Parts: sequence; C-alpha cells; structure tokens
Amino acid sequence: MFENLKVWMNGKLVPWSNANVHLLSHGFSRASSIFDVFGIHPTPQGPCAFRMDKHLDRFYRSAELLGMEIAYERESLKKAIAESIEANNIKRGLIKILGYYSEEAIISLVLDSKLDVAIFAMPESDELGLDKTEPISICFSDWRKIHPATVPVEAKACSNYLNGMLARKSAKQRGYDVGIFLTTDGYVAEGSIESLFMVKNGILKTPKLGNVLRSITRMSILELAPKLGIEVEETNIMPQELLAADEIFLSHTGIKVGPVDRIEERVLSPVPGKITKKLQQALNDIVTLKDERFKDWIQYVGK
Ligand SMILES: Cc1ncc(COP(=O)(O)O)c(C=O)c1O
Repeated sequence: MFENLKVWMNGKLVPWSNANVHLLSHGFSRASSIFDVFGIHPTPQGPCAFRMDKHLDRFYRSAELLGMEIAYERESLKKAIAESIEANNIKRGLIKILGYYSEEAIISLVLDSKLDVAIFAMPESDELGLDKTEPISICFSDWRKIHPATVPVEAKACSNYLNGMLARKSAKQRGYDVGIFLTTDGYVAEGSIESLFMVKNGILKTPKLGNVLRSITRMSILELAPKLGIEVEETNIMPQELLAADEIFLSHTGIKVGPVDRIEERVLSPVPGKITKKLQQALNDIVTLKDERFKDWIQYVGK
C-alpha cells in the first residue's frame, strides 16, 4: 500500500522497499529505537502539522531519557519532514520519525554511536484510519502498564510497545477495540497508543502524568478545555469510576478525539456525549485553521 512512497533515511530520500536495516542491528534485535508520530492536516494554505514543535521536543526528550543521542539537529529534521511531505504529496496523513541504531550488535548492550533517523510521510488510508468515525469499545486489560521504575514510560521507546501489543491483542480476543491498562497500583492509565479521558458531572478527568505517555493531544485538550468553559482534573482514576463515567473518549494525534460507546458490559449513550463533541469540533476547527486563537499549534510544512 505504501510501496510507492519515498522514505527520508539519513539525509537521502530512498524507495520504501530500501528503507531497511540488518536483522542484527541493535535497533531491531535489541529494540533500542525511539519514534514519534504527528498528524498532517489539509488547510487552504497547504498541508499543516499539528504541534510539530512539541513532537520534536518529545523525540529529543525520548533520546535523552534513554541516554541516546540523535545524529541530526532539529533544523535538519524539520527540513527533512518538509522534503518528505513534498516528495510524497501528502495532504492528510501522518509523519513517523524513527531514531534507531543501525549498527549490528551481537552481544553489545551499550553503544556509543548516535541514532540514525528515518522519516515516513504517509497519506491517509484505511490502514491509518485517521478519518474513521465509528465509536470505540474498550475493556480493562489484564496486562498492567509498565512501571516507570523499570523503563522511562515517558520515552516513546519502541520496546515499550510490546506492552501495548499484549493489551491490544487480549482486547481483540475479547471482542473489544482497545484494552485499557491499569497501573501496577490499580489506577486507570491509558490504552496501547491512546490517552484516556472521562467526563463525570460535567468535569473532564484524565489520569495524571507519571505512569502514562506525555501525550501532545492530551496536553492540548487540557489547555483547550478550560477555554471552552470545561473544568478539567488530572487525577488518579479508579476502574469503578471509569465504569460509571457519563462520557469517555480516547485521544492521539491521529484520531484526536475518539468517542467510546462501550466499556466492558456497559453501553454509553448518547455517543459522542456533549463535552466529547464540543472538544471534537474545537480540535477540528483548530487543525483546519478556522480557530485563529490556536494558530501557533499549527506549522506549515511542505509547499
Ligand atoms: C501509549 C500512548 N499514549 C498516548 C498516546 C497519544 O500521544 P499523542 O497525543 O502525542 O499522539 C500515544 C500515541 O502515540 C501512545 O503511544
């Protein structure tokens, strides 16, 4: 599906099928790689990135948390992103930046080299599902969220996503779309690739930072909601509280706000609820530049 695309790999645009490393590269065989993902949206002025500056901050922060160094400066990556968007003619889609050790390493665990970088600019497709509007069903995962004392959960490290894969797999086996992790202390955390929000009695609540990814969409919703007159709380949420929520939605840079219509046996209605709908609309206005107040959240990329 993506075979006609070009991938930016360490300074060059290469065909999709040439974007490879050796199976024994440290990045592949030891999962010592990091990534970040952000959405591209069509606007009258051309393709725009949603909070690319924050995503690039997080990409460098992920490397720092893991004691790694990225081989390229931020300005080079910004140019490379624009080049990738143009080369692949992306209007609506996703950018995925991957930092990885391509060096083959049989027994070495610690490398002195810098991280190589690949940038994937991908157009909207069924697989990405960015424009999917169907509500999401969720259940509690039997797998707990990795504890922050074991690896930095705030780093977007590829290895952390084995945890996510297990939760997603068991949810699918039970007939749900997404499995929600609890922390090892028993509080609600997040989905495999989604932050979680709930509404109770008009108050928007989300798990506090510490055990969850420092999501850029989550941060944006927390900044936006009070401006729409919605009270917000970053707090510990017990599973029973989530089960009794008036509204629930998941968020990430791709879907922005994805309403939940079922949690375990309980069906939520109406979906989307009032606050979910308000936030969905507001974010949509921001990414299409209809709401000028947040124009610094949007960066022009490509031509
Ligand atoms: C574990 C996890 N939580 C939350 C998110 C949402 O993050 P963002 O809003 O930055 O896309 C992601 C997305 O990649 C994720 O992997």
